[in-house]
Amino acid sequence: MSAFQEITQAAREDERVEFSAEAKKKIEWIYTRYPNREAALLPVLRVAEKEFDGIGAAAIDCIAREMGLSPGYIYGVFTFYTHYKRAGEGKYVLQVCATLPCALRGCRDVVHHLEDKLGIKPGETTEDGKFTLKKVECLASCDTAPVVQINDDYHENLTLEDLDKLLESFE
Ligand code: FES
Repeated sequence: MSAFQEITQAAREDERVEFSAEAKKKIEWIYTRYPNREAALLPVLRVAEKEFDGIGAAAIDCIAREMGLSPGYIYGVFTFYTHYKRAGEGKYVLQVCATLPCALRGCRDVVHHLEDKLGIKPGETTEDGKFTLKKVECLASCDTAPVVQINDDYHENLTLEDLDKLLESFE
């Protein structure tokens, strides 16, 4: 079964979800800023990500109904990017940049440190649902490598000591 079949299968099994009135208002505003629905999809995905705490089959189905776009189109756009939170990911999503400048500045050590500390590999989530670890391509902050994005925030020039302090600060 393809990833798309899996997600559409899940959409049938999941409960339907709907945007709140507040989210719909935001989406209506987004529509005024873009020439068509396709162009508005990226910011609408951002609204959906916050609304549903990550995007999965049910959210894609909801976006498709709201925007009049096909679930396949939305799925294709959504999966092209790594920066949207996916359904089932942890409360804190740790995205370690693994592109060359960050690699030269020690991102492998960062990944290994996180693997050891959290007991997970990239692509996995801790059993308590607190952390998800991902390796991603350039986060466009190469001059401050190594860089880790945690939810919406960048952490730059990161040392392993900084990382430990950060992890301890998350509730
Ligand atoms: Fe890591 Fe660009 S290579 S931010």
